[in-house]
Amino acid sequence: MSDTSRPRKPGKPHRRPKKDPVRILAFEALRAVDERDAYANLVLPPLLRKAREKEGPDKFDGRDAALATELVYGTLRRQGTYDAVIAACVDRPLREVDPPVLDVLSLGVHQLLGTRIPTHAAVSASVELARVVLGDGRAKFVNAVLRKVAQDDLDTWIERVAPPYDEDPEDHLAVVHSHPRWVVSALWDSLGGGRAGIEQLLEADNERPEVTLVARPGRATTEELLREEAAVAGRWSPYAVRLTEGGEPGAIEAVRDGRAGVQDEGSQLVALALANAPLDGPDEKWLDGCAGPGGKAALLGALAAERGAMLLASEKQPHRAGLVAKALHGNPGPYQVIAADGTRPPWRPGSFDRVLMDVPCTGLGALRRRPEARWRRRPEDLDGFGPLQRALLRTALDAVRVGGVVGYATCSPHLAETRAVVNDLLKQHPDAELIDARPLLPGVPDLGDGPDVQLWPHLHGTDAMYLALIRRTG
Ligand SMILES: C[S@@+](CC[C@H](N)C(=O)[O-])C[C@H]1O[C@@H](n2cnc3c(N)ncnc32)[C@H](O)[C@@H]1O
Repeated sequence: MSDTSRPRKPGKPHRRPKKDPVRILAFEALRAVDERDAYANLVLPPLLRKAREKEGPDKFDGRDAALATELVYGTLRRQGTYDAVIAACVDRPLREVDPPVLDVLSLGVHQLLGTRIPTHAAVSASVELARVVLGDGRAKFVNAVLRKVAQDDLDTWIERVAPPYDEDPEDHLAVVHSHPRWVVSALWDSLGGGRAGIEQLLEADNERPEVTLVARPGRATTEELLREEAAVAGRWSPYAVRLTEGGEPGAIEAVRDGRAGVQDEGSQLVALALANAPLDGPDEKWLDGCAGPGGKAALLGALAAERGAMLLASEKQPHRAGLVAKALHGNPGPYQVIAADGTRPPWRPGSFDRVLMDVPCTGLGALRRRPEARWRRRPEDLDGFGPLQRALLRTALDAVRVGGVVGYATCSPHLAETRAVVNDLLKQHPDAELIDARPLLPGVPDLGDGPDVQLWPHLHGTDAMYLALIRRTG
């Protein structure tokens, strides 16, 4: 029962919170990533569509969609730095702050420290968002924390919350460039060199990658794709076209028809290097043993068709095998798609001339694309991938004929997933030898000492793809 006898405290009249569809959408996306382990790139498109339908295209236009996307991606990427800043502004450990409150705070900190949104607008939009999604009480807390954050800029905050480089270089870089410490450590081990290189790499991981297209040979030409707005030729792959202002690849006719696709240049180079590796004898049967969702298979299929070779594309997950079939649909040469476990293969040993094993991995080389991945991965994940990667590489070597070539690829530069796996194979199989992959990537600089190659976002503008080419000798 309410106490009607007590006089009401005079105060501000109650005002309904202002609903800002952009911030609400960004908050919902962050919650989905947090609660359901969703992927930002998968949850965003349906949320954007829903907002457009609900608000109408006048109230939720392309600029709103771009801002919402930037807020989600930027907040996720910079979460490590923002957490350190928030931790300095609240009087309890972050794990005791409710996750939805933390999401509103992180979104606010990103607007304050990572965008050009004016301070008062960033704070008031975040407090309004808090009132809508958290209630008035917690909105006060959000207001208090963000006012503290707003007192300094990003550089000043970093100076305050990051441990000095000289005391702990990896911890310092982890906070400054927003990567988990173990990831900084692993990337640095693989990259080698001093502070400048690793800083450039970590910074590149925090940038939005350009959209790169592949004109599948024999099906589309780069000239056709270069007619798109703000399109320029790729840096390294003769089939690549970069869309420098992003855009919607799905609206491009050649992409809709499957004659072209969206594919990072690093992935194109892996397929090209394997296709061009020197080979004695027949060159008629190619295998892609981990083909889903089919990006490299589609390029390999088109290259195989030019040589009159056939491609078998195999993938363990049936639904991903379906995606491979879609990617290869319309391939000008012979191909077959099957759902099979590459560690227990249905094909006859020694029956292929070229084999690609683009194995499942931690994906630490594609952090630009998957903003949440760095926070979700754990060092223990390597224990799960290691045996599978070794088993798949062994069946790849079994699958290739004597004199044939295997391409072992990962989209991770972690040494435990790259050189360690290849070295173990070479130790156990005297009938396997490495081929120098560098000459097969003509014009690409900074490929290291070989014979394997490691690409890097900051040096090549590609994902950090790794490729070892292995010939079966006996
Ligand atoms: C890195 S992805 C391959 C990407 C692909 N080559 C492309 O360019 O689109 C690795 C794939 O291997 C599949 N996979 C995992 N375990 C497998 C196994 N035992 N046999 C075959 N494929 C497997 C995964 O489902 C995943 O689709």
